[in-house]
Amino acid sequence: MLVCRHLGHAWLLIVGFGLIVRQTQAEHILAIFSYAFSSPYLVVRPLIKELVERGHQVTVKYTSTRSSSILDKWDSWVYKTEEWLLERLVYLPPQIKLYRQYFNDSYSNFDEIRRNFSLILVNQHFSLGRVRSNVPNLIEVAGMHMCVHKNCKLDPIPDDLQRFMDEAEHGVIYFSMGVEIYMKWLPDKMKSTFLEAFSNIKQRVVWKYDGLNSLKDKSDNIFFRSYLPQQQILNHPKTKLFITHAGLLSIIETAYYGVPVLSLPLYYDQFANAQRMHLAGVGQTLKLNSISVETLNESIYEILHNPSYTSNVQRMSNRFRDQPMSPLKTAVWWTEYILRHKGATHMRLPEHEMSFMQYYNLDLMPILFGRIGLTAIIVILLAYKLTNWIISSYYIRLDLL
Ligand SMILES: *[C@@H]1O[C@H](CO)[C@@H](O)[C@H](O)[C@H]1NC(C)=O
Ligand SMILES: *[C@@H]1O[C@H](CO)[C@@H](O)[C@H](O)[C@H]1NC(C)=O
Ligand SMILES: *[C@@H]1O[C@H](CO)[C@@H](O)[C@H](O)[C@H]1NC(C)=O
Repeated sequence: MLVCRHLGHAWLLIVGFGLIVRQTQAEHILAIFSYAFSSPYLVVRPLIKELVERGHQVTVKYTSTRSSSILDKWDSWVYKTEEWLLERLVYLPPQIKLYRQYFNDSYSNFDEIRRNFSLILVNQHFSLGRVRSNVPNLIEVAGMHMCVHKNCKLDPIPDDLQRFMDEAEHGVIYFSMGVEIYMKWLPDKMKSTFLEAFSNIKQRVVWKYDGLNSLKDKSDNIFFRSYLPQQQILNHPKTKLFITHAGLLSIIETAYYGVPVLSLPLYYDQFANAQRMHLAGVGQTLKLNSISVETLNESIYEILHNPSYTSNVQRMSNRFRDQPMSPLKTAVWWTEYILRHKGATHMRLPEHEMSFMQYYNLDLMPILFGRIGLTAIIVILLAYKLTNWIISSYYIRLDLL
């Protein structure tokens, strides 16, 4: 089984190998995935397409499940608990329902199969600032969704936008809050803050904006469109800055094309993504709630005029692109590796088979506490004897007086 972990909160399971009777020579891969929002589908589609083109049979079943200081540690603990609860209460139940529907099996088997993965494809890469000690069957494939391999050709930028960008004397700022956050959900005051800040700068702004009518006083240097080709815009030589909600896919794309960011994170992993970009010196972060024309102008000015942001992001881009195979090729290669070696159980850590008690050495606790307890008892006993002895010798001395 193959598991794709998209973010912390969305799962994709690709199960197969023996579950389905083999037809012809091609392996049959059955993919079940649940997704919180639309993006995981975006990430996984190229892999499925490529596998199909290579002669595999892939069945996709997917379901929408939309229905270092102590303080940091506490925060991280709260976050993990929240994720765990979300997974158990929101994401898992529909998956289990699907599993029961198609396999007529119990939950315990589902959980066992879920944990019995051969490979995890994770939408991350160490060059983006998240460095971890990975096990052999965890492969980093960030950028797998991007159109950067030789069979893929990006659609051209629409003519009017192309002209708008080409003719930008002082460069272009691209502003998009992603596909999940609609502009109409943001308060009007916030939108007029953006509008005012953008109207007063020399750069041209390309703003992904749904519901144009709600905005008055549009300025000539702003281009509004409800759908924009993000990769093409980031790849345009005039693009100098990306104002983003810091969603994972946007961060991966901006790192690939080497555009510095001004992050306005709203939820989930966006804060961590923004923080990593900030630490890598490729961007700044602003709190959306307390945004003002002045802070926005200041951040934009700083990123555009301090060359360190551009040079840092260029370096990040070079490192990210410097890989032996494209992320999609990597994902395909490892998927086929798993198929060639019938699940590749030799790659699994022994820890995968361990129970919670064993993994955290909780079964050693009684021994540990037993030893501490024994030592404590001996110390207390000795102290008691010693006190007794001192007291009695004191009284003996008193008696003698
Ligand atoms: C599911 O399995 C049970 C026994 O495990 C069986 O009685 C039932 O008919 C099966 N349902 C379907 C829809 O196959
Ligand atoms: C934006 O900030 C820069 C740098 O601080 C400043 O020179 C410029 O006047 C500001 N623009 C506006 C419209 O406030
Ligand atoms: C785990 O997967 C391997 C191979 O992929 C399989 O042989 C084994 O039976 C599976 N175990 C469980 C408990 O599903």
